[in-house]
Amino acid sequence: MRILGIETSCDETAAAIVSGDGDILANIVHSQIDEHTPFAGVVPEIAARAHVEKLDGVIDAALNTAGMGLDRIDAIAATAGPGLIGGVIVGFTTAKALALSAGKPLIAMNHLEAHALTVRMTDTVAFPYLLLLVSGGHCQILLVRGVGDYERLGATIDDAVGEAFDKTAKLLELGFPGGPAVERCALEGDPARFDLPRPMLGREALDFSFSGLKTAVRQTALGLGAGIGAQDMADLCAGFQAAIGDVLSDRIERAIGQCRSREDAPTAFVLAGGVAANRYLRTRLQTVCADAELPFLAPPPALCTDNGAMVAWAGVERFRLGLTDGLATAPRARWPLDAEAAPLPFAGVKA
Ligand code: KG4
Ligand code: ZN
Repeated sequence: MRILGIETSCDETAAAIVSGDGDILANIVHSQIDEHTPFAGVVPEIAARAHVEKLDGVIDAALNTAGMGLDRIDAIAATAGPGLIGGVIVGFTTAKALALSAGKPLIAMNHLEAHALTVRMTDTVAFPYLLLLVSGGHCQILLVRGVGDYERLGATIDDAVGEAFDKTAKLLELGFPGGPAVERCALEGDPARFDLPRPMLGREALDFSFSGLKTAVRQTALGLGAGIGAQDMADLCAGFQAAIGDVLSDRIERAIGQCRSREDAPTAFVLAGGVAANRYLRTRLQTVCADAELPFLAPPPALCTDNGAMVAWAGVERFRLGLTDGLATAPRARWPLDAEAAPLPFAGVKA
């Protein structure tokens, strides 16, 4: 089996071909960082236009790399939401056109499901597993029971973690995307110098909140004034990262306990989404899992940030179960993985 995967929900134009046993035959990612850097954030209209310009070439490059034409592809999977709707429309409509012209089945992929299942392409992990999905648009704890079967245990009530990283980087003028810049800057810093808040720490409900932390970082930076130096910035980044590390660790420790106490014991803990590329946070969560004697898994960083292989692989999982979609399927800006969960107020907007 070979599935073509297309991803255009944010600022990566990506296409990949993955086989039924998880071999990545091609994985082409065109990042729009240069287009968005002047604005220190993703501008939806610019993103949509860039997808229009690049997507055909990216799909061609994926087919060329894999050395095959569409005739040797079994199905076409494309992100149909949630995400920036202009980009989603570009990718999903392209997938529909290819499916129609080549006579191939179409799979409308939920972007969050693609992140959630990536680990099964790189590791052997059985359902149910506990998933922390942390990216620029999402921060959720999910129990992954099976393909298409998710229970949301908690989510952010305001900013997503990646968004907090990006806003901190913008405030300190560290560059875009913010996550890697803050992580780099934090390496030289003292995490204990500034007393930053740890929102939600110790609460029984598994939700998150990061806007207070963001405000505290801003106030601290303003307090340092125009004379803010490289060491101040490093200390602030280290303190910010440590606060996030404490919050994520507390929530995950609790989530493991709650799942175990209701006899939904997860087989593993999985970290996914763009923020999973952060080495410090990986290490913090590895420690939580080691203490709880639960295997820790995280896909390699290049498969954590948005890419086509994750969409293609989730397509493999769906296609195997006979789950395909009609050409009338509509793209969606919002598409929660757990339809039963209460709607999310702010950053979870995309979910
Ligand atoms: O999954 P992703 O590529 O796109 C979304 O679906 O949002 O995640 C991008 C997010 C950005 O906010 C970026 O700053 C963050 O992931 N990120 C990181 C790191 N690398 C990427 N955050 C913290 N540390 C990193 N090393
Ligand atoms: Zn993503």
